[in-house]
Amino acid sequence: MQENFELKKKMQKENPIERVPIGVPKLDELLGGGLPKRSTTLVSGPPGSGKLILCYNFLYTGVKRGEKCLFLTLDKQVEGLLTQADGIGLDFQPYIENGRMKFLFLNINKKLVYETMIDEILSGNYDRVVLDSITPLSEMPIHVLGEHRSDDFTEHDPEEFKKQEIPFLRLHLMFIVQTLETSKTTAMITSEIQMGSQMLSRDGVTEYIVDGVLSLAYNPDSSNRTLSIIKMRNTKHNMFKHPMEIDVGGITITPKTAIRPGPPSS
Ligand SMILES: Nc1ncnc2c1ncn2[C@@H]1O[C@H](COP(=O)(O)OP(=O)(O)OP(=O)(O)O)[C@@H](O)[C@H]1O
Ligand SMILES: [Mg+2]
Repeated sequence: MQENFELKKKMQKENPIERVPIGVPKLDELLGGGLPKRSTTLVSGPPGSGKLILCYNFLYTGVKRGEKCLFLTLDKQVEGLLTQADGIGLDFQPYIENGRMKFLFLNINKKLVYETMIDEILSGNYDRVVLDSITPLSEMPIHVLGEHRSDDFTEHDPEEFKKQEIPFLRLHLMFIVQTLETSKTTAMITSEIQMGSQMLSRDGVTEYIVDGVLSLAYNPDSSNRTLSIIKMRNTKHNMFKHPMEIDVGGITITPKTAIRPGPPSS
């Protein structure tokens, strides 16, 4: 048993997990260098908590390193997103022009929204992908009724899914996450949660099927923002609430003392 453990440790030392830096220095340090390569991380938080800005930091770091990056947006038009990025001093325009960066608006009202998304992820050969946000897709889990079914899905009758909401939703979300895994990209998915909610995603499922969860929060009374690493595959990390700020350049983890999570409130 001990021998196995020592062997595993030795192998890990010799073949360390490849890391993809997010571009937020203290956060990358807390993660042992960044996100594990080819992983999918959920970024969750209430409105205005900085989910989009963290994703911008992640993608901007990618394009600066010469990587190919994709931003899939379901809620906001591309023009508005670029203005927001400009506002924090991250200019994506040159990278859109040189083909390293692509923003794609997915219209949830269109029947082919899943096909468009999946084809882009699978055919684009992207190093980094952001999906902002998964919430509209989780509220409209329709892909099993479309043509883009995996072999497994064809075995099921869609009518049966409708009767059992939870497994249906889980399979649907797994399909999206597995598409990202198949494409071998490193991905961030955002999920909206309500102010004061203890949940990590709106759907209550995504946090279980991804490799990592970063949780953003703020206290409206003091305007203090925090970031916590709730889970991360192959990574030793703490679960403290790290004070953070949003300013020109995006997110910074501030050197104030991290807040240890207290006992759950009853
Ligand atoms: N240039 C800036 N300087 C300082 N803070 C900024 C700047 N731009 C945005 N912010 C802060 O970031 C917040 C927006 O963050 P962001 O868009 O990442 O939130 P979000 O979590 O994606 O929200 P939502 O769920 O509503 O989409 C603003 O409400 C503001 O507090
Ligand atoms: Mg947002």
